[in-house]
Amino acid sequence: MAGLIPQAFIDDLLERTDVVELIQRYVPLKKAGSEFAACCPFHSEKTPSFYVSPRKQFYHCFGCGAHGTAISFLMEHENLSFPEAVGQLAEWAGLEVPREADPAGRDPTGHLLDALEAAATFYREQLKGNRAAIDYLEGRGIDGATARDYALGWAPDGNSLAQALRGRFDTDTLVAAGLVLRRDDGRLRDRFRARIMFPIRDRRGRVTGFGARLIAAGEPKYLNSPESAVFHKGHTVYGLFEARKAETRLSELVVTEGYMDVVGLARAGFRRAVACMGTALTRDHLDLLFRQVPRLVLCFDGDAAGRRAAWRSIEQALPVIQGLREIRVLFLPEGDDPDSLVRREGLRSWQQRLDAAGMLSETFLQLLSERHPLATAEGRSQCAHAGVALIRTVKDPLFQGQLLELLAERTQTARDQIESMLAADPEGGGNRLSSDPARQRPARRAEPQPVPGSGHLWAALLARILQLPQQGWDTPEILRLADTGTRAAGILGTMIDRIGETPNVSTARLLEQFRDETFFPRLAVLAGMPLDGEEPELSRRIALDSAERLFEEHCRARIRALATTGRALESQELDELRRLQQWLVQRSSADRPD
Ligand code: UTP
Ligand code: MN
Repeated sequence: MAGLIPQAFIDDLLERTDVVELIQRYVPLKKAGSEFAACCPFHSEKTPSFYVSPRKQFYHCFGCGAHGTAISFLMEHENLSFPEAVGQLAEWAGLEVPREADPAGRDPTGHLLDALEAAATFYREQLKGNRAAIDYLEGRGIDGATARDYALGWAPDGNSLAQALRGRFDTDTLVAAGLVLRRDDGRLRDRFRARIMFPIRDRRGRVTGFGARLIAAGEPKYLNSPESAVFHKGHTVYGLFEARKAETRLSELVVTEGYMDVVGLARAGFRRAVACMGTALTRDHLDLLFRQVPRLVLCFDGDAAGRRAAWRSIEQALPVIQGLREIRVLFLPEGDDPDSLVRREGLRSWQQRLDAAGMLSETFLQLLSERHPLATAEGRSQCAHAGVALIRTVKDPLFQGQLLELLAERTQTARDQIESMLAADPEGGGNRLSSDPARQRPARRAEPQPVPGSGHLWAALLARILQLPQQGWDTPEILRLADTGTRAAGILGTMIDRIGETPNVSTARLLEQFRDETFFPRLAVLAGMPLDGEEPELSRRIALDSAERLFEEHCRARIRALATTGRALESQELDELRRLQQWLVQRSSADRPD
């Protein structure tokens, strides 16, 4: 979708947008030198470490590492997609978002969303006239107001949806939205028949898919929309829109398993539940939820399957905990889910259960010691190994330290022994996680380590160009390097061209032209990388020196390649070789102080 909005428009938009003014809408900013500071809106803190630079048109948090442009801010803070964020900024700037014509000449997801919305309306209407469906919901304790809040509906048996929508949407759209299926004979068939419909809405309230429950015995009990251009189960949670709508100052969400848990809890007056729709909780789910609130409670069945599911979720959650983010884990009595519990025991008792939910750290150690019982030396050592392997994935150093402390205590191991295990190569451990080489790398903490090879030089160079675009970068060192033909050199070349074309280009604008590239997140980090109060002149020297070193590396590599071709060199290759060698000689003599 991003490709459909012309880059020139995004440029224009960023030119008219002031990131300080934008962020000020959400966070009270205070002047701090040439920048503005606030307590970070992406993690909770008491002293400000969130800075917004008017010059760079960029924000950066030294606490949690959040960073980006005005567009990124809206995407992160308001949980919008790229086109949505651009749309919002355009609205404020009084601009219409132009669309580059796609082959079909229209915005395909727009049609899907329209069809899904029309379907939701159709199902809602159908529910009003269907006694069996209303009886079913009433039988489960759902009243009219709750059904309205969650826009519940009824899909009749037969092909009534296809018939109702065929005049308004083309067949391809209905199929692509997952609403109807095309039969072998070409006729259309409603996907959802004789089911209670739960519309799944995105953060802005737009219907992106459905969950659908039979009211009689049968299989499958629930049917969900298939993946589509607008519906991705792995990063969608049910009930988020409704929870946000019900409570403006939401600080905690409770993650359940199913549609009826969310709706049943809402009926009982508890409107902070969401559901991951029967799938295992993913990192994407957790990221999405932590963008909304700092605290989560995860609910699981108390039985063996529930404890396994909890364990898998904890594995996903450990790396996500940072700063004030907090997860607690609630095990439910066997045979119950939140819906059945709140109906039987009432809201107060549900609230008490929530309050008593164990911290992630406690549950982690509890489940770990269930897997490796601590009664024997062998068990304790296995437990320590397995624990260290997981604690290694924790990114927050303070939380990691706390977990190590707990693990040391539980397994009766000296703290420094545990710590040296953490520092040691993961191969030393005797458990599955560490003996599987494919899993070692992501498990280690990557950030503080210098990038091997020339990565750190590129980082030093690109960070400074991005952050100080006005320093006059079209020098021989830079231009030479930009011509060396690697991907990084290509990025450098694009930046230099851009700076040349656009006087006063900001960091944000320089960065935004790369948003669709896989390396965008790395560049964004560089744009926010602290330069520790470096004077611009020093920054420039460091950057040019990095460029020289990179070019030198390029020369050596190229000379090696030419020298080892195993064939006679063409005359232009010989020329190149001579030039490269000459350059190296010059450089080494220039380096010598005498
Ligand atoms: P449950 O079977 O626990 O359902 O599945 P539930 O929410 O308690 O539903 P009721 O109370 O019987 O109505 C939990 C979730 O797993 C998904 C659904 O998202 C459901 O809400 N699920 C379950 C499916 O996708 N398909 C199924 O056949 C069953
Ligand atoms: Mn249930």
